[in-house]
Amino acid sequence: MNQQTTLLSNTSNTDELFDPAIDRRNSDSAKWNFYGEEILPLWVADMDFASPKPILDALHKRIDHGVFGYASDPVRLRELICDRLDSLYNWQIAPDQIVFLPGLVSGLNLVARASGEQGSGIMVNTPIYPPFLSAPTNQERVIQDVPLAMSQRKTAHDQSYLHYEMDFDAMDAAVEPNTRLFMLCNPHNPVGRAYDRAELEQLATFCLRHNLTICSDEIHSDLLLGETKHIPIAALNPEIAAASITLMAPSKTFNIPGLGCSLAIIPNSELRQRLEKTASGIVPHVNLLGFVAATAAYEYGESWLASLREYLTVNRNRVFDFFKKNLPDVEMTLPEATYLAWLDFRAYGITDPYQFFLDHAKIALGSGTSFGAPGKGYARLNFGTTHATLEQALERMADALTRA
Ligand SMILES: Cc1ncc(COP(=O)(O)O)c(C=O)c1O
Repeated sequence: MNQQTTLLSNTSNTDELFDPAIDRRNSDSAKWNFYGEEILPLWVADMDFASPKPILDALHKRIDHGVFGYASDPVRLRELICDRLDSLYNWQIAPDQIVFLPGLVSGLNLVARASGEQGSGIMVNTPIYPPFLSAPTNQERVIQDVPLAMSQRKTAHDQSYLHYEMDFDAMDAAVEPNTRLFMLCNPHNPVGRAYDRAELEQLATFCLRHNLTICSDEIHSDLLLGETKHIPIAALNPEIAAASITLMAPSKTFNIPGLGCSLAIIPNSELRQRLEKTASGIVPHVNLLGFVAATAAYEYGESWLASLREYLTVNRNRVFDFFKKNLPDVEMTLPEATYLAWLDFRAYGITDPYQFFLDHAKIALGSGTSFGAPGKGYARLNFGTTHATLEQALERMADALTRA
């Protein structure tokens, strides 16, 4: 087989895996049931794909057992996570540094609640996943928002795209004596950045200088597009590891968020005990089927994941090419990771793109303003769907904008 044929056959295997449309309307899906049948949902961040077969097999086997008592500590899963972090990032952790959680939003709230005291400051960079903005308020902390700096960059083909990065001068100016925590989203939802080593090193220096704990939400770290690599900030050096809480999960990666199995990696025993104490008696244990799915995912899911990345990269490129060709006044990110595109419709004079596309294109996007003030005039598009559904959505959006 020559190289060309190998590439083609890989592509067609990938398409065979992800092209089949699965009707999710009657499957208790938040994404597909929230709106009426006429609306195509591209909002909440789950994908329209079935999970890898080894996960389904493991779940079937466990269900066939028929008894669903309390779960014991998932020793094998702890080992798999340690091995995975070592092989992917050369990051060595001990199994008991992992705290299992039913979800990452619980994790963000727990970390906020365990940081400082009532009124302590938590720094975030908007636009950002909404629970980064609600967690500090829920837990009676104060948000210190330092928006990401946005600029326009050009691809090798001279096409412009939106680039976001941390604004360290503004962060230095905004830090207060009461600031205790920096909440990082890496890869960053909604702007799709996978921060590079230099940026993460600068952030680590900033946090250590100001004595801030870092809570790094890395739920999207496996959803890498093209040649992107992920670097966990805690893997940079032991000093920053000791100041960090890293939140990860197989949920986005293998499309099992409904099974509720996530984890916090906390090398510093004092920080870990504080988090465990805060969770004690309030946060429920991870359910048995979540552990079963997570174990199968990390044991047998890697080749499926490689195919998923190819498929999502094709979708990312398709969204970008479509807007450049048909609607060049829409500015957008060229996401390095995640299956989320961040679109700027301000050139069309549309103040609320979410409502506009819901009304005129029958498409549900993520509303830009839910990601903070810099989201005004923007919307987030979830391209974790089949090529065919994506195509239908893009056509509907173009049609609505052309008529506007
Ligand atoms: C950055 C980020 N963190 C957390 C979550 C949700 O995590 P969970 O469903 O485990 O609460 C999402 C879901 O979109 C997300 O994008």
